[in-house]
Amino acid sequence: MKRMTLIFFAIIIFGIAEAQELKPISLPPPDTAGGKPLMQSIKLRKSSREFSQEKVAPQVLSNLLWAAFGINRPDGHRTAPSAMNWQEVDIYVVTENGTFLYDAKTHSLLPVAPNDLREKTGTQAFVKDAPLDLVYVADLSKVKRATGEDQILYLGADAGFIAQNVYLFCASEGLATVVRGSVDKKELPKLLKLRDDQKIILGQTVGHPKK
Ligand SMILES: Cc1cc2nc3c(=O)[nH]c(=O)nc-3n(C[C@H](O)[C@H](O)[C@H](O)COP(=O)(O)O)c2cc1C
Repeated sequence: MKRMTLIFFAIIIFGIAEAQELKPISLPPPDTAGGKPLMQSIKLRKSSREFSQEKVAPQVLSNLLWAAFGINRPDGHRTAPSAMNWQEVDIYVVTENGTFLYDAKTHSLLPVAPNDLREKTGTQAFVKDAPLDLVYVADLSKVKRATGEDQILYLGADAGFIAQNVYLFCASEGLATVVRGSVDKKELPKLLKLRDDQKIILGQTVGHPKK
C-alpha cells in the first residue's frame, strides 16, 4: 500500500513537473520575402498522406504559422480573412514535444499540454508519424451577430482559408500536408482543454514527404 502511494505521488509530482517544464516558445521572426511564386505554388498544391518523421525546423514552423494566420498589417489584420474580422480560429500546434497554442500577437507558442497528442488529433494512421498536426478551433466567444447555419458556414469558411494558406505554403516549401475533417471531436477537446464555447473545425497534418 505504501509503495502504491509513493508511485501515485511520483506520478502526480512528475506530471506537474512535466507540465511546468513546458514554457512559451518565441518563434523566430517569419521570413516573408521567400517562397515560390504564387502561380507555381498553386500548381503544386495537393493533399499528401505519407510523411517522413523528419522534424519541421523552427524557422519553417515560424513561416508556416505566419502564412497560416499570422498578422500581416500594423492594425492587427491577418493573412487569412475571417467573417466580420472575428479572428475566431485558433491554431493548436500538436508535436511530439507537446501541444501549443499559436499566439499571433507575440508570434509565439503557448503551452497547452506537455504530452504527445498527435495520435489523438485524427483517425488516420499517419497523424502520429508526421511531425506536426494542426487543429483549427473556433472560439465562439468571438463570434457575434451570426447564428445557426450562417455561423456554421462562416466558421468552416474561416478555417478553410487558413488551411489553404497552409496548403500553399507547403507547396512552396516542398512539404506534405492534408487537411482533415476526421478529427476525434469527442476526446480531443478534453485533451486540448477546450471550453464548451470552443469548437474543433478541422485538423491539418504537415511534414516532409516520405522519400
Ligand atoms: C473539408 C475537408 C475535409 C477533408 N477531410 C479529410 C480527411 O479527413 N482525411 C483525408 O485524408 N483527407 C481529407 N480531405 C482532403 C481531401 O480528400 C482532398 O482535398 C481531396 O481528395 C482532393 O485532393 P487534393 O487536395 O490533392 O486536390 C479533406 C478536405 C476538405 C476540404
